[in-house]
Amino acid sequence: MTQAPVALITGASRGIGRAVAMGLAQDGYQTILVGRSRRTLEQVAETICREAAQDDDLSPLVVKLDLSDVDHVDQVLGPVIQKLGRIDVLVNNAGQYIQGSLDMSCKDLERLLRVNVTAQVAVLQTVVPMMKAQGSGHIFNVASRAGKVGFEGVGGYCASKFALAGFSESLYRELVPQGIKVTTLCPGWVNTDMGVAAGCTLDAGDIIQPEDLYKTIQWLLSLSPGACVKALVLESPKSMA
Ligand SMILES: NC(=O)c1ccc[n+]([C@@H]2O[C@H](COP(=O)([O-])OP(=O)(O)OC[C@H]3O[C@@H](n4cnc5c(N)ncnc54)[C@H](OP(=O)(O)O)[C@@H]3O)[C@@H](O)[C@H]2O)c1
Repeated sequence: MTQAPVALITGASRGIGRAVAMGLAQDGYQTILVGRSRRTLEQVAETICREAAQDDDLSPLVVKLDLSDVDHVDQVLGPVIQKLGRIDVLVNNAGQYIQGSLDMSCKDLERLLRVNVTAQVAVLQTVVPMMKAQGSGHIFNVASRAGKVGFEGVGGYCASKFALAGFSESLYRELVPQGIKVTTLCPGWVNTDMGVAAGCTLDAGDIIQPEDLYKTIQWLLSLSPGACVKALVLESPKSMA
């Protein structure tokens, strides 16, 4: 029997990560769901088994992991990936929002950089060797429009997303020649808990939906091997500053 393709999604318990995990499972991927809350991840896994997984053997694997604990990322994720023996898609999505620029404490800035940059890099350090061995794979690093535009009042968050976007572009140049695609996703406001917490005042129906990120990933995965998309910015018509 041919092995199903494997997708690892960080921040799969809610929002964008949950929508992407549901979609990939529907498309026949064996999913690995990563986040801090085992209970919430298990609820997502149950929903996938009920609504999306096409085969009982494709039940999602749940991995409880606080990615800010960067020294443990490889220790926890490494054996899971080794057990499955391959990794086709990485959606490096988990992230945190903290408001502030000069008024932000250095401790908060360090926390943001750790979760939004260092942790993503730690996940990549675990996943990329397997993709290199396969000579294939597609990495989606979820940055933000705030990784392209420096918005006022959110200097720390923008710094973290610019940093991730920069790292991702370097990886694009390093890995594409080895058969591994790398795409930086830069959405504007998305209708999730984080969008609300970050102060989005637009109606939920007027902004990007989490499922739009999945549809974007689905489209990117459908492109031929000769077509690479380095970065993609998604905007809402009512928020184009
Ligand atoms: N919403 C927006 O408007 C927007 C726009 C542009 C970019 N983004 C980016 O898109 C990504 C997903 O955002 P979202 O809107 O879906 O946010 P969300 O609804 O707040 O979900 C964030 C996800 O990240 C996980 N997470 C956070 N900190 C973590 C940690 N230390 N270790 C492990 N998992 C952690 C959360 O899981 P647990 O809390 O269960 O651990 C949750 O699953 C983020 O990188 C965000 O910066 C969001």
